[in-house]
Amino acid sequence: MKLRTIVAAPILKGTHVLIRIDSDVDVTAGKIVGESAYRLDSALPTLKFLLGKKAVVTLMGHRGRPAGNVDKKLSLAPVQKYLENKLKTKLNFLPNVRFDSREEKNDSSFARELAQGQEIFINESFATAHRKHASTHAITKILPSFAGLQFEKEVHELSCVRDAAEAPISLIIGGAKIETKVPVISKFLKQAEHIFIVGAAANAFLVAAGYDVGGSYVDAVSVRAARKLIKHDTVFLPVDMVIGTITGAKKFRTIAVADNKKLCGANEANFDMGPATLIMISEMLASSKTILWNGPAGKFEQQPFHLGTERIARMLARAGRGGACVVAGGGETVTSILHNKMSRGFTHISTGGGAMLAFLGGAKLWAVDVLEQK
Ligand code: 3PG
Repeated sequence: MKLRTIVAAPILKGTHVLIRIDSDVDVTAGKIVGESAYRLDSALPTLKFLLGKKAVVTLMGHRGRPAGNVDKKLSLAPVQKYLENKLKTKLNFLPNVRFDSREEKNDSSFARELAQGQEIFINESFATAHRKHASTHAITKILPSFAGLQFEKEVHELSCVRDAAEAPISLIIGGAKIETKVPVISKFLKQAEHIFIVGAAANAFLVAAGYDVGGSYVDAVSVRAARKLIKHDTVFLPVDMVIGTITGAKKFRTIAVADNKKLCGANEANFDMGPATLIMISEMLASSKTILWNGPAGKFEQQPFHLGTERIARMLARAGRGGACVVAGGGETVTSILHNKMSRGFTHISTGGGAMLAFLGGAKLWAVDVLEQK
């Protein structure tokens, strides 16, 4: 798939360029929280390219889901400050586009307002590429539009995995809601050697297999999806798990997922995969040429339940350094990779969560579609 890219855009000194960035980052006390700055850092090469050309740049983006209301807590001011510090220059920002209800309706009158005084549109927001919104879709009907450098890289790298992945292929799918992950699991069911289901996603599969997961997070939609997928012999579930009490989770123990169908009590939950699962994954992954990872293996933000996720990050970084194509994406997944300083070795770390899963699952992404060279 070939996109119209910024490199071919007619941008000269003084050209007015409107750029849509991925600005949906975590903010605490006005500061971007740790690893979520990854999305902003990913836009820096494109911003530097535009500033280098002496274009007149205006940035737009969103934070959160304010549903058409102005919510000061979701302003882009911390994003602006972060990027201005990084680029050592003042930047011109539009307000959070989701403060206007017309954004999510892909409203052309809103797109025209955004495009006022602009000559070129650059989309550098792959994380919203599965949305059909005014700032990513309708705007392309008004201004000559091109993909930013990161956007193009995302489409290129993820296309390689989707359309030309070298076998053997393995997937590690964790996190909570498996609903968004079903298309990508389904797409690779026959093609992949192994699809490991970990984290809260595993709870739904365990319930589908007849286990009682006690107070572990599980939702009915995910269980329904799991029932359809579990019969495939490429799908692997944890063979052990670390469980703890729900309140405080100070006490924990490792249990085998064996014949005893009762895994946890009502006040206990699955908080991490256990060491035997890690060994199983590591042995099965050893020969993989392509590995895709989305979703943590447990409650990784709380020690000691970070261990499974951290070890997956370490294992995959090693596999990547050994020559495998290793691709990961999703907010929590990226956070754990960067937090553990494991990015070296990964072939591609996507800025997209839902967008990455949709793309790999074979869905048409609205914002990609409109930038394709026909
Ligand atoms: C994301 O965080 O994945 C993107 O910003 C998209 O957000 P949305 O799911 O609210 O559209």
